[in-house]
Amino acid sequence: MTTTYRIAPSILSADFARLGEEVKNVIDAGADWIHFDVMDNHYVPNLTFGPMICQALKPHAKTAAGVVVPIDVHLMISPVDALAASFAQAGADLISFHPDASGHVHRSIQAIKSQGVKAGLAFNPAEPLDVLEWTIDEIDLILIMSVNPGFGGQSFIDSALRKIEQARRLIEASGRDIRLEVDGGIKTDNIRRVADAGADTFVAGSAIFGQSHYKGVIDQMRVALG
Ligand code: DX5
Ligand code: ZN
Repeated sequence: MTTTYRIAPSILSADFARLGEEVKNVIDAGADWIHFDVMDNHYVPNLTFGPMICQALKPHAKTAAGVVVPIDVHLMISPVDALAASFAQAGADLISFHPDASGHVHRSIQAIKSQGVKAGLAFNPAEPLDVLEWTIDEIDLILIMSVNPGFGGQSFIDSALRKIEQARRLIEASGRDIRLEVDGGIKTDNIRRVADAGADTFVAGSAIFGQSHYKGVIDQMRVALG
């Protein structure tokens, strides 16, 4: 079975003074999704952007041919439900949140899906996957953090590979079509190793936006994925 790989550039590392242009440029360079890192300076020690920025960027999230490019919102916030609803209304296509940031995980998943948006759970490096036993049939995405959330440009945490393998086994046992996304420290020289562990969707911020030629980096990632 051939795997469909997706590259999801994180705009956390984009030029915030030109976000619309950056979204357009990285889509022209071949991005499959736009990864939107939301931080509240409460759940994580950084503060980024809210639903209004998502709404402003939504018209830019499409290819030159007019094909919509999904906005993949990663909520590093607590509490979750109210802002998740605002991001759904602002045009998010997928919304993932950290189970340890919600007082009622199953209800937060339902709150996202009730808005017609795909729901995902995000797991920090020390967070076990146990909650998936009771939620895997409700979600569309599992996001494995390979850095501690809050900042771009960090180094990949190798223990994430074991968790990716475990998540892949759980997805296969569920028989459901769930995306397995990895976020943090993804580079052209480690993306193959992360794919071999079972990931199919790759968040990359500094590896892409830290270079002048976005297409060159994305093309290298695709070559590495084979
Ligand atoms: C949490 C953020 C970062 C970002 C990726 O800190 O979610 O992981 O998206 O940043 P890079 O690709 O620069 O590690
Ligand atoms: Zn993220």
